[in-house]
Amino acid sequence: MDNIISWTAEDEAIIATNTDATECKRCAVELGYWKDDYITYFAKHVDRKAPEINRGYYARVRAMEMFIHQFLERCDTKCQIINLGCGFDTLYWRLKDSTQAVGNFVELDFQAVTSKKSHIIKRNKQLLEKISNEDGEVMIREGDLHSDGYHLVSCDLRCLGEVRRKLAGAGVSPDAPTLVLAECVLVYLRPDAAHALLRHLSSTFPRCALLVYEQCNLGDKFGEVMVRNLSARGCALAGEGYCREPAAQAQRMLSLGFQAARSWDMHTVWRALPEEDRARVEALEMLDERELLLQLNSHYALTVATRGDIFADMDLNA
Ligand SMILES: C[S@@+](CC[C@H](N)C(=O)[O-])C[C@H]1O[C@@H](n2cnc3c(N)ncnc32)[C@H](O)[C@@H]1O
Repeated sequence: MDNIISWTAEDEAIIATNTDATECKRCAVELGYWKDDYITYFAKHVDRKAPEINRGYYARVRAMEMFIHQFLERCDTKCQIINLGCGFDTLYWRLKDSTQAVGNFVELDFQAVTSKKSHIIKRNKQLLEKISNEDGEVMIREGDLHSDGYHLVSCDLRCLGEVRRKLAGAGVSPDAPTLVLAECVLVYLRPDAAHALLRHLSSTFPRCALLVYEQCNLGDKFGEVMVRNLSARGCALAGEGYCREPAAQAQRMLSLGFQAARSWDMHTVWRALPEEDRARVEALEMLDERELLLQLNSHYALTVATRGDIFADMDLNA
């Protein structure tokens, strides 16, 4: 199976979801939802998004940050982060400004995305200076960008052999505490490919945490509309069958070798955020469509799956 998957129009549509995510993040950042000094390099012009979209993105970014922080707090030595389907995520730079705890940060996506991201990084000093070594150098090998502690590599996540090779080439070590991020990406993989990937990760890293953010409850009426809308854009959700109630997602992770797993829909996550954070963002924009926000939040879920005792207590209210 490895390396024989051909490029399809569907892949193009999936790649375009990165542009959407980046533009939505930039819009919310401009409105003051959260701070990100780097997002403007990756999305030049954006139209204003609806308040419920901005608030949904805030909850997503804030919740991911909260768990990343929990992970870092539990690490007793330098850790590594693997960002699956990284898109134009700016996490590497944001973390670089606040912590020295990450020894290696590896980002994987389709080549169409990584080559564009690599180009943007090389053109912008503020991005490049946080990556390159003292003489301002980064290495380009087979089109991938490598430097001390940051690697941006092209890879089709459906090809496990390629994933393994690219992770090894990026200096990933089974001994380091490992955080794997999968934000809106597993849903695009066929279940057999997603399962092979997840099983590989859980069996390779004895001390790891996996954060998955993606759709849930896709079997109800609202979920069906979400699927239809994406499909009309040429974007099939091959992993849709696993986006049912959040608990099923946690169960799936347990069956794939993780020792502990928990999932929450984003409405639950939103209510668990600190009161003052919610009050601050609620004051940023009027929200007429409360019901729509509730619907949206009920159709996205965050899952935390872990291996190793040090990460077993990662939780929404930890
Ligand atoms: C919705 S975007 C999310 C990007 C980023 N994780 C974020 O949250 O901003 C989905 C990303 O997954 C990537 N992706 C989907 N299927 C992939 C595959 N088989 N191999 C590599 N990347 C893939 C897409 O190219 C895209 O960049």
